[in-house]
Amino acid sequence: MEKGERKKVTVATLYKMEERGEKITFLTCYDYPTALLEDEAGIDIILVGDSGGMTVLGYETTLPVTMEEMIILTSAVTRAVKYAFVVGDMPYMSYQISIEDAIRNSGRFMAVGCDAIKLEGGARVQDTVRAIVKAGIPVMGHIGLTPQSYTQLGGFKVQGKTADSAKALVEDAKALEDAGVFSILIECVPAKVGKLITENVSVPTLGLGAGADTDGQIVIVHDMIGFFAKFRPKFVKQYCNLTEILLNAFKSYVEDVKSGEFPKPEHFYKISKEELEKIGVIVKE
Ligand code: KIV
Repeated sequence: MEKGERKKVTVATLYKMEERGEKITFLTCYDYPTALLEDEAGIDIILVGDSGGMTVLGYETTLPVTMEEMIILTSAVTRAVKYAFVVGDMPYMSYQISIEDAIRNSGRFMAVGCDAIKLEGGARVQDTVRAIVKAGIPVMGHIGLTPQSYTQLGGFKVQGKTADSAKALVEDAKALEDAGVFSILIECVPAKVGKLITENVSVPTLGLGAGADTDGQIVIVHDMIGFFAKFRPKFVKQYCNLTEILLNAFKSYVEDVKSGEFPKPEHFYKISKEELEKIGVIVKE
């Protein structure tokens, strides 16, 4: 192997990055062409999130997302990715009913090429996490704002804003670490709470709106490329406005077809003069 040749990211790679203080880059993805680009750009972890239910399938929340839908989206991503560490997101009710269900459904993500799975919850999912890890599947925890329980949390709200709730989040993170997670995603908490949780666990933490002191950062790809016009959270930095670019392209296409500007001869397939003459077409030069 040549020096500097890029290698597949593994759990060990992520631990080493955390150890040397190198920030871990993490993005969601739900389709083949975007996965090719994210992988080429050098993203360390790709999450096929159930947020895809909202960003690409058009649901209002993540609750209607099924295992079947997740497996279709995930397979498209894993077919594209060579280097990034791919995490499959367990949808609502794929791990809450029984540990047996949780292991079976985790296994379905691994069977389509994932490197790990993610599920939501802290201490309350400790036994489930332990069982999945025991089955040989790496698990990423997810605490803070956990969208699958948004009704229980009173809406999509910042978590950990009181001393009690911040302490509970630290306990949740410790419970997950004790159950064997290889990393913890922390969503929507004050920056100081993101730091506190990070200091209290030894596994890498990945923040989504959790400040700058987590070991890595994740955002939802549609938010950072401006491709989800319905809503953009405060913590997202938008790198381009794909909505505007695509809308202009679609409008130009409509105008061009209506006006005859498209297609032009350079877009045509050709047939020879001789062949046309054989079918009785008079060819004018
Ligand atoms: O589904 C998802 O994209 C997530 C994010 C909130 C990180 O879990």
